[in-house]
Amino acid sequence: MKNENGFQETASLTVGGKTVQLPVIIGSEGERAIDISSLREKTGYITLDPGLGNTGICKSQITFMNGEEGILRYRGIPVDELAEHSTFVETAYLLINGILPTRMQLNKFSVQLNDQSLVHEDMKGFYQNIPPRSHPMGILSSMVNTLESFYPILKTTTKIEEINTTLTRIISKVRTMAAMSYKISRGHRVVYPRPDLCYCGNFLNMMFDSPVRPYQLDKSAIKALNVFWILHADHEQNCSTSAVRLVGSGRVNVYAAISAGIAALWGPLHGGANQAVIEMLEAIQANGGNISPFVERAKDKNDPYRLMGFGHRVYKAYDPRAKIINKTAHALLEKMQISDPLLDIAQKLEQVALKDDYFIEYRLYPNVDFYSGIVLRALGIPTNMFTVMFALGRMPGWIAQWKEDADDPNWRLYRPRQIYIGQNTTHYIPIEERV
Ligand code: SDX
Repeated sequence: MKNENGFQETASLTVGGKTVQLPVIIGSEGERAIDISSLREKTGYITLDPGLGNTGICKSQITFMNGEEGILRYRGIPVDELAEHSTFVETAYLLINGILPTRMQLNKFSVQLNDQSLVHEDMKGFYQNIPPRSHPMGILSSMVNTLESFYPILKTTTKIEEINTTLTRIISKVRTMAAMSYKISRGHRVVYPRPDLCYCGNFLNMMFDSPVRPYQLDKSAIKALNVFWILHADHEQNCSTSAVRLVGSGRVNVYAAISAGIAALWGPLHGGANQAVIEMLEAIQANGGNISPFVERAKDKNDPYRLMGFGHRVYKAYDPRAKIINKTAHALLEKMQISDPLLDIAQKLEQVALKDDYFIEYRLYPNVDFYSGIVLRALGIPTNMFTVMFALGRMPGWIAQWKEDADDPNWRLYRPRQIYIGQNTTHYIPIEERV
């Protein structure tokens, strides 16, 4: 039933001797939220939700997740259908524009990505002067920020045109920047993008082509990379996407907002987990393949150690992306006729964990990061670039989420509140009187 505000339900809250009615928002998949935007004004109270596990920061039309059932859809399309039938460029278009492109729209988008694929030659100077042991995520976050200097968002073009050019520029150039960073870090000659290669084929070629050993593009490698990036393309309000929205809400240029997203993704509890998983599997391998010490440590409450690649704030079922990546890893290794001992260890670890009461009780399943490193190793990507690969995949999602905020007429600065529990009023003490 609708109430006077047109909302279909309301929540009654009695607090501080008062009872107030708060509107309830009902999502298109039946999710319900209590709109507390008038709470402080009506009651003087705020809510407190460390980690924001119970707090929605926006309404969105981009991605739907059902963590209990392991469902993930981009603009309503199940991610497994996109992984099977789509390409990363087509999925990027879907996320940003809300619909699958016609053939003409897709061709136009591909031409724009190609036209934007070079980076300013002066960028090489940055890469050549970054300390050699810098982490590629720190380099990527810094270099994305410099895009505003190289390509200032001009006020001359129409807003829509300017935004679309800027967003296409980001998706295309970050791929070139990542490959350039890798080549320069190895002292190799930079390989330029080619107009005759697709988005994923171009990246692999820029990473691995060499004058003395031309890179042999392999269809199964290109397919695996498309699937990998499709599966990483968006994931509603995760830590890094919320960072993009929050930083973007200050109306800073979109490059800076995306740079903040890259920094947020870097952490081992978030996107950095894919690198941490491989380091964990290598440690198990070095331990003679003996898994139990690692599982026991992960269960020990006195030990902060976590089983990397397991658990998720939203998924309390198997991460649907992990299933697809596991399948992709097996298919790629078979096609390339390589075997990876770490995959065998990962499978064993999954079997042990999923039968263990602790993991069952806490509903800890493999997440997107658990098997993704196996695919990346088979493609030849160095481990310290794994999270960069996650970031390249998440670009369309970050952009779509930033755009959804920016297009919202009620777009407001994100400014959470707090409950102060510190010192009450006291006064300055001259230093000579301090003990
Ligand atoms: C990503 O949000 C997204 O959508 C993220 C992402 C995306 O696409 O953007 O899906 C990508 O970040 C995937 C997650 C990658 N991170 C890891 O694999 C790191 C290992 N996992 C965890 O640290 C943990 O599971 C989190 C951070 C992913 C989720 O943690 P929560 O929701 O904050 O849960 P929690 O830390 O409060 O854990 C709840 C309980 C705790 O026990 P108690 O203190 O309550 O007794 O479960 C335990 C934890 O100790 N637990 C684990 C565990 N994960 C949770 N115990 C051992 N090993 C783990 N991996």
